[in-house]
Amino acid sequence: MTMPAILDRVPTIDIRALEGDPHTLAVLAAACREWGFFQVVGHGIPQPLLDAVHVQMREFFALPAAEKRAIERTAANAWGYFDRELTKNIRDWKEIFDVGPAVTRGPGAGSVPQWPRSLPAFRPTVESFYAECEGVGRRLLGAIAETLDLPPPALLDAFGPGHTSFLRLNRYPPCEDPAPADAPTMPASGCLGVHHHTDAGALTLLLQDDRPGLQVCRDGRWHLVEPRPDALVVNLGDVVQVWSNDRYRAALHRVLADRTATRYSAPFFLNPTSETIYAPLGAAAPRYRPIRWGEFRAARAAGDYADHGEEIQIAHFSIADRSP
Ligand code: OGA
Ligand code: NI
Repeated sequence: MTMPAILDRVPTIDIRALEGDPHTLAVLAAACREWGFFQVVGHGIPQPLLDAVHVQMREFFALPAAEKRAIERTAANAWGYFDRELTKNIRDWKEIFDVGPAVTRGPGAGSVPQWPRSLPAFRPTVESFYAECEGVGRRLLGAIAETLDLPPPALLDAFGPGHTSFLRLNRYPPCEDPAPADAPTMPASGCLGVHHHTDAGALTLLLQDDRPGLQVCRDGRWHLVEPRPDALVVNLGDVVQVWSNDRYRAALHRVLADRTATRYSAPFFLNPTSETIYAPLGAAAPRYRPIRWGEFRAARAAGDYADHGEEIQIAHFSIADRSP
């Protein structure tokens, strides 16, 4: 088998044939190793549903502020509208809508979806998209397990009933003072849609509109993830980094702000059950101690609301001092 060439841009992978297909699995493995970011086409989600998600997102954020505030996310209910989120303790230039299953146990217990009353097509569209993303996410995770020579259930068992996956809708409004595309990771001035971060869960699947803005960091440089209407953008999160014992890294990414354009995106975060304890699998020298998802998630979520000092990161669980 020929090895895929080293990739100079975020790769696009057709996943129509994925399971057991050596060529696609080799391309997937290279994308995970080199980037932690890729786009997938041939994912099977009908284009009319993707188009409907774009329409409903725009209609939702165009609602009067009072209607959005009426379904606001709070410390007691993780699902709803919000416009004051922090990343790295800095306010992001965006408004969001989060929705996931009703939470009956563990951190976030009591969270229930909240829906806008005046948009009847919003809920069924969002629920269909959630279900489709969950299916694609599981397929990809099973394939990622294969590329790591792990049996797929070793990863997929964490996503049984009670998994904490959620869907977010983002609207990035125009900004008078955007940071430039080549701004360093901590720009001296100018705003960003979302500051640099990794996603905490296993995988993120993201639908973006035709406005560029999402960037991924590789070898110290920021690369644009070019919009493609038929694709979902996929990135690896901290959980896969830990399972793979750093063979695959959760990619650092951010979203630029724009002076004139409004940008919309819809990420689906594939997250394990609260009880899941994840640790490096099959590694002779594990680099992380076991982490309980519910506790990690609760600590990270607290930082979304208020400046609690340093944001909790996966590095806090790395086994200290591996230097010679
Ligand atoms: C996120 C994120 C990217 C985007 O919400 O975690 O990275 O393009 N979003 O909206
Ligand atoms: Ni992200």
